Amino acid sequence: MGLWSTKSLAQLQVEATDESGETLKRSLGALNLTLLGIGAIIGAGIFVLTGTAAAKFAGPGIVLSFVLAGSGCLFAGLCYAEFASMIPISGSAYTYGYATLGEFVAWIIGWDLIIEYLFAASTVAVGWSGYFYEFMGQLGIHLPKAFASAPYTVEGTHTLVRSTLCVDPATGFAALDAAGAELSAAACAAPYALTHGVLNLPAMGLIAVLTTLLVIGIRESATFNNIIVFVKLAIVVLVIVFGFQYVNTANWHPFIPPNEGEFGRYGWTGIVQGAGVVFFAYIGFDAVSTAAQEAKNPQRDLPIGILTSLAICTVLYILMALVMTGLAPYKTLDVPHPVFVAIRAAGPALKWLTYLINIGAIAGLASVVLVMLLGQPRIFFAMARDGLLPSMFGRVHPRFKTPWIGTIITGVVAMCIAGVFPIGLLGELVSIGTLFAFVIVCAGILVLRKVQPGLHRPFRTPFLPYVPLLGILICGYLMYGLPSDTWIRLLVWMVLGLLIYFFWGRFHSKIARAEAGKAAGPGD
Ligand code: ALA
Repeated sequence: MGLWSTKSLAQLQVEATDESGETLKRSLGALNLTLLGIGAIIGAGIFVLTGTAAAKFAGPGIVLSFVLAGSGCLFAGLCYAEFASMIPISGSAYTYGYATLGEFVAWIIGWDLIIEYLFAASTVAVGWSGYFYEFMGQLGIHLPKAFASAPYTVEGTHTLVRSTLCVDPATGFAALDAAGAELSAAACAAPYALTHGVLNLPAMGLIAVLTTLLVIGIRESATFNNIIVFVKLAIVVLVIVFGFQYVNTANWHPFIPPNEGEFGRYGWTGIVQGAGVVFFAYIGFDAVSTAAQEAKNPQRDLPIGILTSLAICTVLYILMALVMTGLAPYKTLDVPHPVFVAIRAAGPALKWLTYLINIGAIAGLASVVLVMLLGQPRIFFAMARDGLLPSMFGRVHPRFKTPWIGTIITGVVAMCIAGVFPIGLLGELVSIGTLFAFVIVCAGILVLRKVQPGLHRPFRTPFLPYVPLLGILICGYLMYGLPSDTWIRLLVWMVLGLLIYFFWGRFHSKIARAEAGKAAGPGD
């Protein structure tokens, strides 16, 4: 019963225009939506991960990794844009799934999107905390390290040198255990190890502040986002413009370093592996679609917001990758602050810019956390309105007009995750969850064009079926390249979601209940 029921487009469009009862406030135009997209996109990916991906996998060819990951996102983005123009209600891919593939698949996407939004907010807050800690140090304020890091770390964070010394690559010093002693070789190689950390308080504090802002209002949140997006865009453009003048073209040779005999270790496979890592940098353009019910003219402005933010960031990323690998030899970029290292390599002439980079990263990462914390409760909102989650997630604050209970719950959970989990563990999970959602959205476009070809589509994905098919292929391939333990975590998460659906959601689903009511007939 109800498992494959779809929500009709007509019904969704009625919900989109329904102004009775508790509704969100429509106050965002095309510019705000585009800035929301950029706010969510530029963050830890470009400021933290690019360096590692260039150093370990692709060399200067990381530029091509950005092109590859960007094309997968562009194909998915075009599919998102068609859905967003057709179904302008909050819930993003969850709602699109409900319209095309049925309630069961919609639940799977909704549950999967929690990995993208809630976990991404926590991941990027952890990255933000790292930059914030450094920045405070530069200002002479030394925060206790134990209260700025997670209590444990995962494999790959430490490096075993000469089979005895365990080094923390983030600091370059010997890694210490909870008691302050050097980690043994065995502990260094263990998949999980205790650090000397207790809680990541800066990450938790950032989430608490942003959650408060999001409860107070969508307009206030969007204005705050606009300001920080302006700061980070200005700094990214400065890095590109001034960095280009000091590029040493010798650093680009060979552009694609020869493969070292292992999949992903430079060469063409390195470019593919690099694309899997830098994909994280593109996550966020789809967050625009979660604000559909707060957009003034969603059918026109959502596709503009999604595609413009993606296009701007793709161009900036490609230029930024060229500058970084042109300024410094790629092997030196395997650090948590590669943009800083690249600009420092330009010499004293660009010293002034190194001070600004931390500010760019702090602003940039904060806006990613903000938009992710904005997207998640709006997906919960749509799910609660359909009866698949408790109704409190569908409550709108009478004065602020925001989904305040869902926002607070999201914030509290994100704070707990950011406080205790290390960044490496979270980042890959976010990528696999997002790629999975992209694959389903691309498939959804193919299904809907076939089963309801005559629908009014203000924006149409071009070159069907090639664009969605290529989206499925590229995103599927990037998923395939992610480590097997990430797959296992995704699977465990999905099984948990299925249990909740079969024991709770299914019995509370409004569509299923309406269908059961109809089947029982008026006399029952
Ligand atoms: N794209 C976002 C970032 O790089 C998630 O931080």
